[in-house]
Amino acid sequence: MSVRRIGVLTSGGDAPGMNPCVRAVVRTALYHGVECYGIRRGWNGLINGDIVRLDEKSVAHTINRGGTILYTARSSEFMTEEGQRKAVSTCKFLGLDSIIAIGGDGTFRGALALSKYGINVIGIPGTIDNDISCTNYCIGFDTAANTAIECIDKLRDTMQSHERCSVVEVMGRNAGYLAMYVGLACGATAVLVPEEPIDFEKDVIEKIRQARFNGFTHYMIVVAEGAGKATEIAARIKEAIDLDPRVTVLGHIQRGGSPSGRDRVNATKMGYLAVELLLQGKTNRIVCTHEGGFTDVDIDEGLAMKKSIQQMEVDVLAAMTGI
Ligand code: F6P
Repeated sequence: MSVRRIGVLTSGGDAPGMNPCVRAVVRTALYHGVECYGIRRGWNGLINGDIVRLDEKSVAHTINRGGTILYTARSSEFMTEEGQRKAVSTCKFLGLDSIIAIGGDGTFRGALALSKYGINVIGIPGTIDNDISCTNYCIGFDTAANTAIECIDKLRDTMQSHERCSVVEVMGRNAGYLAMYVGLACGATAVLVPEEPIDFEKDVIEKIRQARFNGFTHYMIVVAEGAGKATEIAARIKEAIDLDPRVTVLGHIQRGGSPSGRDRVNATKMGYLAVELLLQGKTNRIVCTHEGGFTDVDIDEGLAMKKSIQQMEVDVLAAMTGI
């Protein structure tokens, strides 16, 4: 399998660390004498031929930048056979033999579709949701978690002064990894995630009571967006015990900001590894972390895997929240 021209794209929700990853792909490719092209606006860019040549300079000063210099999109057209055929014809026309796609599960499904037409593909997990089953770590999770933690620490100051209850909604789509991590880091009174069944009386109201018995007069309830709306949780708390919670939906602020050191270094390693895999003749792989190191799995296998919240996080949370 010959690798002469690599295209790199970012797709789905952006995540801090995507730029260091693109930078690593470009620099590793150039280091090996392989040409590298940026496909802009996700899979749409491959359909529409929205492609730019990337050189050393195009990725200079991007290691510390949030967002993605390649722009991103969720492409419904690429999910159709016609869209995929258009993308393949762009690859053939431009002589792009390999694509590195940075994103989430939807991005990998797109890569898998492309591979059926004989294009070499490698996926790199980039999503603040950290919900890709074949890997413990996804690019952007660390920065997003730290952003949410910083915001909640600030909220705590004012909640403490006013002796209030705060309900904070954290992103994560259908997954609770971000909320659980952030809740543990912020010493939340309760954390609600979609993976764990919720008994409102036991998991929220009793925890607030327990905190009160422990001498607290402010309460921080962290809700994963997939577990329910913060406004509804707040209304139920008011109805049950007549507290008047303040609601904060952290929203897209969690996706912005300069990537953390961890996200920069891991993204750089993953970008490097993606190119090395192609040069070793591998295709149809997802770069992932495993037992503290980096490895790769087949895209089909990776997409079929399941993961859940670590039992240890659930147990630790139970111990920290006093029930
Ligand atoms: O997948 C990343 C994510 O930020 C999710 O946490 C969230 O549910 C979704 O994207 C929001 O999507 P959009 O930016 O399209 O509103």
